[in-house]
Formats: sequence, C-alpha cells, structure tokens
Amino acid sequence: MELTNIQGLKGTITIPGDKSISHRAVMFGSLAKGTTEISHFLKGADCLSTIDCFRKMGIHIEEKDQRIYVHGKGLHGLQKPDSTLNVGNSGTTTRLISGILAGQTFETRLSGDDSLNSRPMRRIIEPLEQMGAHIRSLHDNNCAPLHITPGKLQGIHYESRVASAQVKSAILLAGLYADGETSVTEPSLSRNHTELMLAEFGAPIRAKFDLNSTKATAFINPCEELFAQKINVPGDISSAAYFIAAGLLVPDSEILIKNVGINSTRAGILKVCEDMGGDITLLNQRKEGGEPVADILVRTSNLHGTTIEGPIIPTLIDEIPVIAVMAAAAEGTTVIRDAAELKVKETNRIETTCDSLKAMGCDVTPTDDGMIIHGGKPLKGAKIHTLLDHRIAMAFSIAALIAEGNTTILDSHCVDVSYPTFYDTFEELL
Ligand code: S3P
Repeated sequence: MELTNIQGLKGTITIPGDKSISHRAVMFGSLAKGTTEISHFLKGADCLSTIDCFRKMGIHIEEKDQRIYVHGKGLHGLQKPDSTLNVGNSGTTTRLISGILAGQTFETRLSGDDSLNSRPMRRIIEPLEQMGAHIRSLHDNNCAPLHITPGKLQGIHYESRVASAQVKSAILLAGLYADGETSVTEPSLSRNHTELMLAEFGAPIRAKFDLNSTKATAFINPCEELFAQKINVPGDISSAAYFIAAGLLVPDSEILIKNVGINSTRAGILKVCEDMGGDITLLNQRKEGGEPVADILVRTSNLHGTTIEGPIIPTLIDEIPVIAVMAAAAEGTTVIRDAAELKVKETNRIETTCDSLKAMGCDVTPTDDGMIIHGGKPLKGAKIHTLLDHRIAMAFSIAALIAEGNTTILDSHCVDVSYPTFYDTFEELL
C-alpha cells in the first residue's frame, strides 16, 4: 500500500465488530444449547479461524442476512476433529480453545502460522496441566503445535504472572469442565469479556477486586448447561483507535465513530488521548448486551507527551503501536513502561514499532518493557516492514498521513487479520 500525507478527514464511520467479543460469541455459542445469533460479527481472518475450528468439531455455523448463527450442541457436544485444528495467526483462538479442549473426551492437535507457532504457550500449558490435562508442545519449545490430551479436571486457584485475558479465559473455560471452583488472580484486570459474556450464557462466574492492590480475581463453577444468546457485537475500540489517531493528527479533521465498545478494560486509549490533550467527546453512551458502548467524536488537536505505565497497560496493549505514532507527533517526551507483553504479540512490537518509527525519522529508544519517544520532529515517508503484523500495518498507515513524502506499507494485506476493510473506511473520510 502506497500512502501520502493528507488534510481534512471528515465524516461518520462505523467500524467492524470487536475481535475479542466475536471470538467469544462463536466459542460460547458452540458450547451452548440452541442457536446463538451474532450480529456485527468481525469477519477478520482471526475470527474465521475460530469458526473453522468449531466447524471441524461438528458445530454447524452459518451466515444469513449479515448475521452468524451458531447451532450449539451443549457443553459436551463437540466431536473429535479429523485433522489438526488450524488456528492461523490467532493467539486468542489458540489459548481460549485450549481451555475448552482440556475438558473434552478426545485428544486434539492445534497449529498456526509461523508467528503463532512462535508465541509462548507455557502460560496456558502450566495451569491447564495443574487442572489435570496433558499438553505436549510438539517441538518441545512451549509453543504450538500443541497436542492436547484432556483429563479429569480439578478446580484450581491460579495466580497468573501476567495480566492476560487469554490466560484467564483459558483457565475459566477449563473450569466449566472441572470439579469444584476454579479461580484466576491476575496482577491487574485484563479485558473481562469472558466474564461478562459467560455470565449472559448462564455460567456461574463472578469477579472480585482486591481493595489493597490492583489485583483482580475471577471465579467459575461448573454448570449443567449454557444457554444460546442473541449478541450484537460492538465496534472494536482497537480498530477505532486508528481513526481516533487519524482524527487527532491529520490537520482540519472531524470524525464521528459510531457504536464503539468502551468497556473500561479496553478503553485505556481514551484516557491516554485525554492526557495528551486530545479533543475527544463520548456521545450517546449506553449498554448493549452487558457491554458499554458510545459514539466517539474526534477533532484535530495539538498533542503533548505523557507517561503510560502500570495497570492501564493491559487496557490498551493492542493500541500501543498507534499510541506510539501519536507520541511521535506530540510535543515532548512520551514514556511507555510495564509493557513487556508487547514482545510476545504477533511480532515483537517493541522492536517493530521502534524500527518503523526510526525509519520515519522519529527519535525513539526501545527499552526492555516499552519505549521512550521524543516527539515533535516532522515524520518522513518510509518503507515500513510490517512483518505481517496487522497492527503495525494500520498504525503506520496513520503515520503516513502526516509524514512528508510517500510511505510504502509492505504486506499491507495483513490488515485482514482484524480489519479487512481498513483501507475502505479511509475512503469514506476523504
Ligand atoms: C485478547 C487479549 C489480549 C490481546 C489480544 C486479544 C483476547 O491478549 O492482546 O489481541 O481477546 O483475550 P493477552 O490477554 O494475552 O494480553
């Protein structure tokens, strides 16, 4: 993709459904009795991998009138797949499905693309083995491909070292099949869509917050049945983030982004924009299916640097590449710390973000758990090596809009992972 700088992005857009919520709607719908109807489902490659995995386990999933219908067969209705489950590029599919597979009566194998097969799986292998499953990393490197042998699961209490919704969800889903209560404590609260949505499906699940620390615990008990739901997936704030940044950075812009999920475990970017001096207004705030939703109005602003650290990090972890682009354009210094998790995303995003910023002439220093960005120097067009990371492609497409000269985003088709229509949305704002 070739891009150049631009002025005056104006208009009203809606963005595709939330990736995390779309995955969960298909998974929980497959385990529920009856037909779950999903509207505004994200048809990105990651969520299609989830659909593919459940189809291979005998679940009938169809698309009709822009909706997805998942004909669930109950908690014990999955069938042994004929072949290895292909999880593509999707960490969420891999980790959440592993929790479900740990509780089945058949063995399974799962494997993904090169990026996925190099991401750490020890974080789910350890707790799921403690519960009684046996999970073999076929290359003995604690990564996929994984061979999962279920066991008679016991409820455990697990203290996770990382604030990860994927780890938390894997354990909670296995907890549906375990004897007794299962609980997971994380150092600070990660996205809680599993807790909210499983409760809607009828699972006995609850959350508790430690008043003396940032720790959060989720508890689940096994149940007889989950019940099919009607789910309207809100717009993905992680996708909206690119247009929030575009609206703030591109001169003379005003963008209204409709129906965006603003769950506080996801909305850290809004707080950061406010801290940086961004002109953002939340309109029409409401709740849909247990999730808070709003329309977001963004206007061009003069941004200044900020510090981003601590418990806010998990609430904006996927937005850090585009936040770094905003920081490059802001006056002064932005420090991002406590974000070592960036190193184990689709790429090492400390490296890919800093390398791309440097290519555009930004003064940035990578650190072990984040980066330091000295903003305010004009960016110049460059060749961006996305390494097939969708968030790097989109973040640096926004940087291109304010850079002098032309920018080439290599392998820009990787936006298909989470936002296949990303470049079409731009057209609506020209
Ligand atoms: C996700 C959780 C996050 C996030 C990912 C989606 C989820 O990962 O980065 O894009 O849907 O649970 P971690 O929970 O591992 O940080």
